[in-house]
Amino acid sequence: MTESSAPKRIIIGCDHAAYRLKETIKSAMADQGIDVTDVGTHSETSMDYPETGKIVAEKVSSGEFERGILICGTGLGMSMVANKFPHVRAALCNDLFSAAMSRRHNNANILVMGGRVIGDILALEILQTWLETPFEAGRHQRRLDMFDTI
Ligand code: RB5
Repeated sequence: MTESSAPKRIIIGCDHAAYRLKETIKSAMADQGIDVTDVGTHSETSMDYPETGKIVAEKVSSGEFERGILICGTGLGMSMVANKFPHVRAALCNDLFSAAMSRRHNNANILVMGGRVIGDILALEILQTWLETPFEAGRHQRRLDMFDTI
């Protein structure tokens, strides 16, 4: 393990389907002293997830933020949007094993979850695992480097 992982600041976005989960996750991170930038949405009124997905992905893609979180109903739409951006490695993790492996092997820089798929307790455990698990680098960095040639 070569890279310390726990981020000091995080950018987060959601759609209406995951608004409540976003609020729960935000307070869990604030309790840990993480500086959270929330780009919305800010209510359960229906909206289009690419709007907030794009903001978070752009800011991770540019390097303005090292890590981000996106949540929608399934997590599928948000991960599709986010992975269109260069240097974004968005991982849809609705289980703990994927959350750990997305950091250890894929150095995932955006965590995506489905607010309609998992409950709050599991989501918080996935979040914690993802925040704390370091990237193993080595042969995994070589594979990530190949992304830029595709
Ligand atoms: C919204 O109804 C839903 O489509 C969205 O939250 C997400 O699941 C899309 O992938």
